[in-house]
Amino acid sequence: MLSLVTHLHAFVKEVALTETEWWKAIEILTQAGYKCSDKRQEFILFSDTLGVSMVVDLLSHRKPEGATESTVFGPFHRLGAPEMPPGANIASLDKSGMPTLVRGRVLDLEGRPIAGALLDVWQAQTSGLYDSQDPSLDGLHMRGKFRSDDKGRYLVRTVRPVHYPIPSDGPVGAMLAATARHPWRPAHIHFVVSAEGYEPVTTHLFDSADPYLESDAVFAVKDSLICDFVRHERAEGHARALGIAPPYLTADFDFVLKPAAEGAARDPLEGQKRLAALGAAA
Ligand SMILES: [Fe+2]
Repeated sequence: MLSLVTHLHAFVKEVALTETEWWKAIEILTQAGYKCSDKRQEFILFSDTLGVSMVVDLLSHRKPEGATESTVFGPFHRLGAPEMPPGANIASLDKSGMPTLVRGRVLDLEGRPIAGALLDVWQAQTSGLYDSQDPSLDGLHMRGKFRSDDKGRYLVRTVRPVHYPIPSDGPVGAMLAATARHPWRPAHIHFVVSAEGYEPVTTHLFDSADPYLESDAVFAVKDSLICDFVRHERAEGHARALGIAPPYLTADFDFVLKPAAEGAARDPLEGQKRLAALGAAA
């Protein structure tokens, strides 16, 4: 708190904050609060678009060489996604997207498979909207939990992710407009990968073909998380077994987890659960 107050006072003095500006700041923070609900988190969006989330991520998750890097959690995770068998389709209602198989293994730092790892996956629809933003949807969509098999393998069926603008109808949108920034995020799929005895990783897979990789509105791109989505014209292997008609895409990516620190059993969704409890109590 001492440091926060020191920096806050220094900021106020440096810009010679006026009373009008003070009222404006109060108004913006109040608007952000009113925008929050069980489906929307404007404060996470502020943190993400100001780069604070990524600085916290960099400080919190120094990964040894070879471990999968983390990135922002973002405001669109929802609790309660169903556990699905390997190859299940999280995009069953999305009829316009290109069928895509995301597959690979969950490994330890020595390259040994981790069986029974949990992969919590979420993604925007081809429309660019998450289920929680889409008034035509009632329940959960484009979300699922998958387990790695005894060889560490996982298989997720979805559609090609798209770039999408972050919600810009609130105070974060006003800030982006006022600072001449665009609201686009490069196409990605969200993952939280966890396994007993390992440090969970909150991350994304980014599509290497996306035009916004260099200018993500929330600064979340890391080179090691960029993945090729390869187009196939003939149904083979997994696609044939799952009855996917070509053309379709495959994205191959192995997640590598580092061992959990001594005595640290961290729940990667703890913050999310606390926010949900706040909403339920309100
Ligand atoms: Fe996202």
